[in-house]
Amino acid sequence: MIDLTERYGPWAVVAGASTGLGAAFAEELARRGMNVVLLARRATLLEETAAGLRERHGVSVRPVTVDLASPDLWSVVSAATDDLEIGMLVYNAMYDPTGRFLEVPLAEHLKAVAVNCAAPTILAHELGRRMVDRGRGCVVLVSSMAALQGIKVFASYGAGKAYGLILGEGLWDELREQGVDALAYVVGATATPHYVEMQEAASGARPTEAQLAEVRRAGSEAVAAPRTPEQVAAALMPLLDRGPRGYSHPDDEARAEADARRPRREVVEAMGKMTSLVWG
Ligand SMILES: NC(=O)c1ccc[n+]([C@@H]2O[C@H](COP(=O)([O-])OP(=O)(O)OC[C@H]3O[C@@H](n4cnc5c(N)ncnc54)[C@H](OP(=O)(O)O)[C@@H]3O)[C@@H](O)[C@H]2O)c1
Repeated sequence: MIDLTERYGPWAVVAGASTGLGAAFAEELARRGMNVVLLARRATLLEETAAGLRERHGVSVRPVTVDLASPDLWSVVSAATDDLEIGMLVYNAMYDPTGRFLEVPLAEHLKAVAVNCAAPTILAHELGRRMVDRGRGCVVLVSSMAALQGIKVFASYGAGKAYGLILGEGLWDELREQGVDALAYVVGATATPHYVEMQEAASGARPTEAQLAEVRRAGSEAVAAPRTPEQVAAALMPLLDRGPRGYSHPDDEARAEADARRPRREVVEAMGKMTSLVWG
C-alpha cells in the first residue's frame, strides 16, 4: 500500500467532507497520516468532523466553509490553503436535482453543473498545476454508477457524474508522466445520510419485492445492497495509483462491464425502470 505522505505530500483537500462519504475519505486519509483540508457549507458539522479527526489521528485539520457552486470558490480555497503543500485532491461533493428533467427548475440543473462539473474542474486545474510543479500528487474525482448510462429522474446528475468520470480518466493519461496520479472512482450504492434520506423520502412509493425482482432481471445495479461509507473509502486506497478508473466494489465493475456489452436502450431502460418505481 502506498505511503500517502511520502508519495503525494503532507496535505489532502477533500471537497464535500462534512458528512457521508467525504467524511469517510477524510477519516481514511487521516488514519494514513495525512493532514486534511475539509471543504463544505455546514460550518458546525465541519468543525465536528475536524475535531474527531484530530482527536482520533493526531493530524492537522483545516475546515473551510465554502459553497462549491460559488464563483468565489477558488479565491476562498486559495486563501485557506496557499501556505500548505496540497498533495491530494479528493473531489467528492455532488448535487442531485431529483425529478423529471423538465419539471425541475433550470436553476437546479445549473447548480448541479456548478457542483458536479465546474468545481472539480477548477480545483483539479489549480491544485493539479501545483502538484505538477512539485512533481508529485494525486487527483481523485468521485463518480458514480449513475455516470455509466442515461438515468431517468436523475438525468442531469448522471450527466455531471459522467463529466467527472471522463475528466478523471483524461487527467490520468496527461498527468502520470509528470509524477501525478489521477483516478476516476466509480461508486455504487452507499449508505450515506443523503442516500438514507432519499430512500426515506421515496418510502411512500417503495417498490414491492415482485417489482424489485423484475428490475433485477432487467439488470439494474440500483437494487444492489448499499455499502458503508467506510467500506467505500477503504476500497479507494489500493486504487490511487491504478487509474484511469477504479470501482468501489468488484460487483460494480462486473456490472459495468456486462452493461457495456448490452444494447444501450436495454441498459437505460433497466435503470429507468428502477427510478420510475421509486420516484415516479
Ligand atoms: N451515496 C451513494 O449511494 C452514492 C452512489 C454513487 C456515487 N456517490 C457519489 O459519492 C459522493 C458522495 O455522496 P454522498 O451520498 O456522501 O453525498 P452527500 O451525503 O450529499 O454529501 C455530499 C457532501 O458534499 C457537500 N456539498 C454538497 N454540495 C456542496 C456545495 N455546494 N458546496 C460545498 N459542499 C457541498 C456536503 O456538505 P454540506 O451540505 O455541508 O455543504 C457533503 O459533505 C458523490 O460524489 C456522489 O455522486 C454516492
